[in-house]
Amino acid sequence: MIHAENLSVSYGDLRALADVDLDVADGEFVTVVGPSGCGKTTLLRTIGGLEEPTTGEVTVDGDPPAVAQSAARLGFVFQEHTLLPWKTAIENVTFLRRMAGKDADSAGARDLLATTGLDGFEDARPSELSGGMKQRVAIARAIHLGADVLLMDEPFGELDEITRDEMSVEILRLWRENRKTVVFVTHSVPEAVFLGDRCLVVAADTEGDPTADGAPGRVVAEFDVDLPRPRDESVFGSEAFGAQVARVRGALHGDT
Ligand SMILES: Nc1ncnc2c1ncn2[C@@H]1O[C@H](COP(=O)(O)OP(=O)(O)O)[C@@H](O)[C@H]1O
Ligand SMILES: [Mg+2]
Repeated sequence: MIHAENLSVSYGDLRALADVDLDVADGEFVTVVGPSGCGKTTLLRTIGGLEEPTTGEVTVDGDPPAVAQSAARLGFVFQEHTLLPWKTAIENVTFLRRMAGKDADSAGARDLLATTGLDGFEDARPSELSGGMKQRVAIARAIHLGADVLLMDEPFGELDEITRDEMSVEILRLWRENRKTVVFVTHSVPEAVFLGDRCLVVAADTEGDPTADGAPGRVVAEFDVDLPRPRDESVFGSEAFGAQVARVRGALHGDT
């Protein structure tokens, strides 16, 4: 599980994130939603051991994130796909796992590419793939790495809306089949609600002074998403979904 306590991160004088307490249970899907600049990426990078907390602490299964990361227990998927352009899809999927010193499981990698809809594209290079297909490769790579925890930073941010919805359904299926713990950052409220067991709302906290500059991001609200699983496209049109989206939007806009 992921545990963060009193977590704050500053870059020099700039306070990016303040006073975050967070527990994510094994197998849980937690989404973090908020406007841009409110510290979402900072939170994810700190959980992933890529930034050091300024105050407080964060652990992954009781260890510092850097330890979990070097043991390949953390997988990242970023907005930009970060595939190696000179490697094929299958080589990109297996590369991180081999770098982590694990056995090369190319049959497993092929299966994963097939279940992410990339059957027949194993030998294609990133330049030959659409945006959605590249993100599928990046997701397959993170799962293939064998990490228990997936940290996703707006992975569908650059995709068109229809592809986004498809990818959302697909990531839930992969999550179900592979039993991962997921922290998923997005600025899309519907995406956060559709995906999450729980949705954290992060916003810059100006402590009542809307003109305050450089206010740090804080968790201002938290929702249990009360929608049955498994969820598919039909959820998007449901009343319960609309009501939950409205509640999260309200929290983002400071309603109480
Ligand atoms: N490496 C960095 N050095 C200095 N400032 C940073 C760095 N990364 C992010 N920031 C600043 O921290 C704040 C939060 O950024 P970020 O975590 O990227 O927010 P979000 O992902 O919600 O858009 C912003 O003001 C941003 O400019
Ligand atoms: Mg960001």
